[in-house]
Amino acid sequence: MPIHIKSADEISLMREAAQILIEAHELVESHLREGITTKELDQIAEKFIRSKNAYPSFLNYHGYPGSACISINDEVVHGIPGKRKLQQGDIVSVDLGVYYKGYHSDAARTYPVGEVSADKLKLIEVTEQSFFEGLKYAKPGNHLSQISEAIQKYAESFGYGVVRDLVGHGIGKELHEEPQVPNYKTPGRGPKLQKGMVLAIEPMINMGTWQVRVLDDDWTFVTRDGMASAHYENTVVITDDIPEILTLRK
Ligand code: MF3
Ligand code: CO
Repeated sequence: MPIHIKSADEISLMREAAQILIEAHELVESHLREGITTKELDQIAEKFIRSKNAYPSFLNYHGYPGSACISINDEVVHGIPGKRKLQQGDIVSVDLGVYYKGYHSDAARTYPVGEVSADKLKLIEVTEQSFFEGLKYAKPGNHLSQISEAIQKYAESFGYGVVRDLVGHGIGKELHEEPQVPNYKTPGRGPKLQKGMVLAIEPMINMGTWQVRVLDDDWTFVTRDGMASAHYENTVVITDDIPEILTLRK
């Protein structure tokens, strides 16, 4: 499968999808508090996205039963919204996708709920920074593996585990396109980066072991050791200059 290089017109459309996504994230963030259920947060996101004549990218994707993935504490990704209530001290990862005018946009954030332990706050901060460490290498002529290795090196310098079972991805007309974007070193240098590539770069970082398992719901990834995990993701365009982060408010 080829890597789809996007034209300026396609990137404009992806910018529109991403703007809706930014606003959906901000709306969900504004509702985070102890006692709210993950299903309520999912509904807030879905209603908003639909109100913009957009569609939640994850809903029914390979049968996924929600609009958001909401993953708490030891849940890594793909937590299914339900009756579980947020509690003080939790960290909660919210992953959302928006499909608009034929293009997808994808982003995730991890938030603290109320007072959270210092070690969990550090995990959130390092996970976010690991994305920016990788982004330093996101320019034409570099190879994809440079992004991956920078993320891994930074996260592991704090003693954290970098999840291997899941990776970032190209994004555009499809939610998941080539290339895969690992957050860890793999054999080879990966494809050469080119202007017009659009990547969802999404480090998933565990406080303890990198190893994960899937719950009986067949979706939710959790850490094997039960320690906390954080996720940070943006949709990024490779340009001749610094990369454009579509899903971050400018
Ligand atoms: N952001 C995730 C990803 O890019 C979530 C999609 S999985 C879904 O892979 F099934 F929930 F849609
Ligand atoms: Co993604």
